[in-house]
Amino acid sequence: MSDTNVVVTYLISTVMTSIPNPASAPSSSSIWTIVVAAGSGSRFGGAIPKQFVQIAGRSVLMWSLHHAAAMSDGIVVVLPADIEADDEPPNVVSQTPVIRATGGASRSASVRAGLAQVPDDASVVLVHDAARPVASSELFRRVAHAVSQGADAATPSVAVIDTIKTVDGGHVDRSTLRAVQTPQGFAADVLRMVHAAGEHATDDATLVARAGRRVVDVEGERWNIKLTEPADEAVIAGLVTRSGQTAPMHASPTHRDGSP
Ligand code: C5P
Repeated sequence: MSDTNVVVTYLISTVMTSIPNPASAPSSSSIWTIVVAAGSGSRFGGAIPKQFVQIAGRSVLMWSLHHAAAMSDGIVVVLPADIEADDEPPNVVSQTPVIRATGGASRSASVRAGLAQVPDDASVVLVHDAARPVASSELFRRVAHAVSQGADAATPSVAVIDTIKTVDGGHVDRSTLRAVQTPQGFAADVLRMVHAAGEHATDDATLVARAGRRVVDVEGERWNIKLTEPADEAVIAGLVTRSGQTAPMHASPTHRDGSP
């Protein structure tokens, strides 16, 4: 095993022993979350992929799993192939099973690898980028709730606040735009159906929309940024440490299906 793998394997085992118990509120449907963490992080650079970078005492992946676990009956974490090679058994943390899967060459391929590990009886599947460590458990709840209310898919998004132009100087009306985030939520059968075609997109809701199924919008979180470049690290460090947990704190969720 390379030095990098030793470091990353250590970080993962730290993650797996630190995930909190899921919310104890009863839920009528089974919610599983796929956390995709198999990217190489080429835009970020560095010795290890960005999702394993330590920020405020935890890896980026750990922060993401921490928020996902509070709203999930189980988690599939999709890891790079060379990390999986150490052949550790799946981790089970308290009542939240964490199953490991090996990622693919594209994000969509990694989601498919994770989806193959989600139990057949899961009714709602959330898909989250490990590189978004500040998404709150409340956001996971909102997205899951929209699906449990009948949407085929639910995507959190925020308004675009910058003036936008094209590279050749053209103007784009920002009022027509939304910046789309994760976690995204799906009726499990719909997510399986759209991924069966083996297509690629930068997110999963795009595949659902292409299939003509119903995607609803839920309000995202402006601070839910994706770790992409080194400069993002300091911003995320400030966000995750504020209020001891994650930036703007919300009222505690009540039920995992989002009902009050
Ligand atoms: O590259 P980007 O930041 O858009 O990746 C979004 C998420 O997808 C990241 O958490 C990354 O680790 C994951 N990913 C993956 N497998 C790939 C490419 C990206 O799991 N082949």
